[in-house]
Amino acid sequence: MPENKPKKPWITPAISAHGGGLNKFGAARHHLVTERIAGVPVDELGSRFGSPLFVLDEQRLRDNARRLKSAFAHRWPRVIHAWSYKTNYLGAVCNTLHQEGYLAEVVSAFEYEKARALGVPGDKIVFNGPHKPRPALERAAREGARIHIDNLDELYLLEEVARDLDKTVAVAIRLNFDTGYTDAWSRFGFNLESGQALDAARRVVESPHLKLTGLHTHIGTFVTDPRAYAAAAHSLCAFMETVEAQTRAVIEYLDFGGGFASKNALQGVYLPPEQIVPAPEQYAEALCDALMAATRAREARGLAQPTLILETGRAVVDDAESLISSVVANKRLPDGRRGVVLDAGVNVLFTGFWYHHDVRPVRWPAGIPEETVLYGPLCMNIDVMRASIQIPPLALGDKLVFHPVGAYNNTQWMQFIEYRPAVVMVMQDGTVEVVREKEDLACVIAQERLPGKLAQPFAEAG
Ligand SMILES: Cc1ncc(COP(=O)(O)O)c(C=O)c1O
Repeated sequence: MPENKPKKPWITPAISAHGGGLNKFGAARHHLVTERIAGVPVDELGSRFGSPLFVLDEQRLRDNARRLKSAFAHRWPRVIHAWSYKTNYLGAVCNTLHQEGYLAEVVSAFEYEKARALGVPGDKIVFNGPHKPRPALERAAREGARIHIDNLDELYLLEEVARDLDKTVAVAIRLNFDTGYTDAWSRFGFNLESGQALDAARRVVESPHLKLTGLHTHIGTFVTDPRAYAAAAHSLCAFMETVEAQTRAVIEYLDFGGGFASKNALQGVYLPPEQIVPAPEQYAEALCDALMAATRAREARGLAQPTLILETGRAVVDDAESLISSVVANKRLPDGRRGVVLDAGVNVLFTGFWYHHDVRPVRWPAGIPEETVLYGPLCMNIDVMRASIQIPPLALGDKLVFHPVGAYNNTQWMQFIEYRPAVVMVMQDGTVEVVREKEDLACVIAQERLPGKLAQPFAEAG
């Protein structure tokens, strides 16, 4: 008779593509062109909306959001995804992700207001960050947002707010600790190793106005080793056990922040992103397996497994946006290299400081490739979009497409010397919508006030 073994639970395997093209010098990328973005010809986008131009791809954004959700949904019973506003808070991006079921993760009073203005109810907002002014805390407490406490002063302030509102406010505390894989972001939240986090947890539990229901951490950004999340899960779960054993708190959720890497090329990293960036399923597998192992004893005690919250930013939006730029001048540098001036600079592509974005022409130019520096249009020495690429001579008006640029550019860009360009979104049906107008003088000077005696630039003659 065959042994009647208990059936093992089925676990979704993590399958990830094996990226090819190992080549330090990038030769495999030669002759790659970007003729279309989300199916729309780059030339058409340029002539309809001008250059430079940011172009979002609605389908890609939704696909990324769905893939991440599905990777975790197969591995953990209760998962909440919250969209990290600071990564890209254009209304069109936020509402696409809200439609996909993502809550709002905000880190300032402004971002909170923006989420509410977009129609996100307070109880669908996760409120992080080291600066939450009293009126913002009052509003968040009244509206039932998930408030994650960063420091003791905030804890005391929130306690006062809750007392004045005559409410018991459910809160989480943010923790920082060493995962062994990432640099500890120790300036945010309470430190675990020093005992500060346990003191803070006790302080919250003792308060008649606060109720500790969650633990939060954000271990870093562009974390390329999924084992870092397994380590974080072990630390957070061990802390949860300690807090529950030593106080009357029952932890309902664990929030692991963001940090999954996007398919972008960090400067100074030898291998291309296809080779080093894990798939969403790999992060999900590492985190959920560790959570499963670390909460088994808790389950045996009859306590529910905590809800898992994620606040993914760059991995969802980065490759859903491109930047079209055009050549405005050519020059020969004294050392013999070619210089090309583009109409888009680091004022709009802030991430150019740490990424080597993929940059491609619309069609491969005729001629012999030579080392070329890509400059932006700013009259500033730092305005280098790419210190070195091999490309044949470009003509005035030729377009270059930078990709992926969806994370941290439309939020960190600045109006400096030039106007910020328009952002369009290629919708799922192939139509193109403007989701942010190009700036003009009126919008740049809207907040300025000229004192009466300075109304005229020159004194009257005579
Ligand atoms: C608290 C918090 N959550 C989420 C994120 C999003 O991170 P990422 O874009 O690396 O996913 C950040 C970014 O710094 C953050 O500070």
